[in-house]
Amino acid sequence: MHNFDQIVHAASLAFAATDDPDVLEQIKASYLGKSGQITELLKGLGKLPADERKTVGAAINRAKGEVESALNARREAIRRMALDARLAEEALDVTLPGRRQSLGGLHPVTRTLERIEALFRSIGFEVADGPEIEADFQNFTALNTPEDHPARSMHDTFYLQDESGGVAPGVLLRTHTSPIQVRYMQAHVALHAGAETMPEIRVIAPGRVYRVDSDATHSPMFHQVEGLWVGQNVSFADLKGVIADFLRRFFESDDLQVRFRPSFFPFTEPSAEIDMAFMSGALKGRWLEIAGCGMVHPNVLRQVGIDAEKYLGFAFGMGPDRLTMLRYGINDLRLFYDGDLRFLRQFA
Ligand code: DAH
Repeated sequence: MHNFDQIVHAASLAFAATDDPDVLEQIKASYLGKSGQITELLKGLGKLPADERKTVGAAINRAKGEVESALNARREAIRRMALDARLAEEALDVTLPGRRQSLGGLHPVTRTLERIEALFRSIGFEVADGPEIEADFQNFTALNTPEDHPARSMHDTFYLQDESGGVAPGVLLRTHTSPIQVRYMQAHVALHAGAETMPEIRVIAPGRVYRVDSDATHSPMFHQVEGLWVGQNVSFADLKGVIADFLRRFFESDDLQVRFRPSFFPFTEPSAEIDMAFMSGALKGRWLEIAGCGMVHPNVLRQVGIDAEKYLGFAFGMGPDRLTMLRYGINDLRLFYDGDLRFLRQFA
């Protein structure tokens, strides 16, 4: 009898020693399996004298029942432990605040571009754009800057590689928005071919431009807004008026002065640099260059098939990054392109 209690006790200890369900089943087999201890005892019953068989048999069966219930209790305990562990692992704190989708905002330079577009639209300008990967012809040649022209060196250009790694001929990242002038005039001429008098061209073209240049006031990618007004009766005085009026409206101030400083661009004659200065405030009296401009060179008109005897016009190319820095009091251009949300959020 004593022997059976020991077996039940040993089995219970063995079950308790594992929390692995597979191991538990192996231990079960060593008691209740085909050649398990209890099974062997039952098999041995037949050898006992008939009068003992009944009592011993009953004792073994009781032991078997106890081993089985110990086994089932352990199975249940292991199952519960596994469940508790999983619940703990997947616990969800429903009291945590939710993650909000935060609203984006417009980049300060984008705000400036939209403002410039709205102001020029209000005086009858259209808004055009053109490709950032530009043809050499539109970027230089048609703008009175032939291949050997020294003015090409004013623009340190990003040329593109062809498949063999050499410079791809005839294409580059545009160095200014002036090629859009060329494209727009070409399209305009085609549209009005045969007309006695071509309607006026009044267009601005904002966009990204690229030069090999990088410091606090230059970045290899920056923005320009090109302006062009071509007609039969357009003068430098109109240019001055348009620019001065634009700047006063852009900065919402009459307290600024504009100055045209003689300069050189191959595609305009005469050419000027436009400077402005605030007459009050923190930047009072400091002249800042904000654009290049001039009367469109007759060679440029001829390149696109416009009669330079009949039509003339002015053009300008201004720097919206500069205007944005002035408008918001930003002193380092690189802040615009670092992607630092602490900076950008201020404008959202
Ligand atoms: N394209 C010139 C530049 O990037 C800027 C410029 C000057 C544009 C005079 C013009 C212009 O249209 O008339 O330096």
